[in-house]
Amino acid sequence: MSFTNESEASISSISPVFTRTSTTESPLTSPDGSSFDVKSICSILIQIAYRAGDMIVAADPSVDDSDTKNNSSDRVTATDKAVEAMIYESLKAAFPSFDFLGEETFKEGQKLTDAPTFVVDPVDGTLNFIHGFPNVAISLALTVARKPVVGVIYNPFRRDLFTAVKGKGAHLTRFDGRKTALPIKKTPAPLTSLNDCLVAVEWGNQRNGSNWDLRTSVHKKLLSSKDEGGAMVHSIRSNGSAALDFCYVAAGWFDAFWEAGVWIWDVCAGCIILQEAGGLLASANPGDWAPELEGRCYFAVRGAPEDGQKKIVEEVWGLMDGKTFTYPVRK
Ligand code: IPD
Repeated sequence: MSFTNESEASISSISPVFTRTSTTESPLTSPDGSSFDVKSICSILIQIAYRAGDMIVAADPSVDDSDTKNNSSDRVTATDKAVEAMIYESLKAAFPSFDFLGEETFKEGQKLTDAPTFVVDPVDGTLNFIHGFPNVAISLALTVARKPVVGVIYNPFRRDLFTAVKGKGAHLTRFDGRKTALPIKKTPAPLTSLNDCLVAVEWGNQRNGSNWDLRTSVHKKLLSSKDEGGAMVHSIRSNGSAALDFCYVAAGWFDAFWEAGVWIWDVCAGCIILQEAGGLLASANPGDWAPELEGRCYFAVRGAPEDGQKKIVEEVWGLMDGKTFTYPVRK
């Protein structure tokens, strides 16, 4: 299988698959009664992800054209903007009536609605991209009624493609074309204790205040020995892309990913990939088993019997001493 050939598929040749009939293979009905073929939409998102991947790999990360957003660790590059522009043009041409919510074009006050909406992060892991660390992904999702129904996440450096369609499972397609259903282990081991887990965390770019204190205190407690009041997890990992962290939990490579402060575009595609792989999605904040997509607090646990998944969530919540993350509703 040649990824180059696939990625060279002309975006202009992508035809709209939106249809008001329900004769398609995987029809989904949106709140206004329209139906469309989510599997075809997934295929188109894959083509767009490959095209975006070519742009990212061709960009020279040694040329630092990045700019700061909120602070020196919150950055945007010319590539982020160019890739999002390509994705926007491609999706608008194919699906003119669908809404679009992208990291680089997000406007304060923009909110996810019930309408079919593409949620896009053109480069998740921008700091990795700037430093040449090859854990970088394009993250593309379609939501309907504010829930993700398709997710595509592609790391163009490793050529790992993670996909999911609602009700059709999640898959990883590797550089050589091998396609595997997720999780990778067909019968994942039960989760019995946080003590046995490999946990993904990120550090975010907000480095002061109560959210920072809570984040770092939980990271310390995850690692600390039991006699110091910690969970003594196997270890923690921080890879710099929340989108890929979700995929790695979906694959079963990480047992869990606990994260707050990221945005809907970082996690939307990852949420459906996780859930279609049998993973559990809760909030990073205690007590919330049904987090809002735009709520900025997430806890992903890999596929396993549900009682064990919930035990892991409750163990981490127990390390938070009743404290919670708080974020302004809008950027
Ligand atoms: C970042 C990544 C990272 C997370 C940051 C995000 P971006 O996204 O998802 O894992 O810790 O908070 O901003 O900016 O590279 O798209």
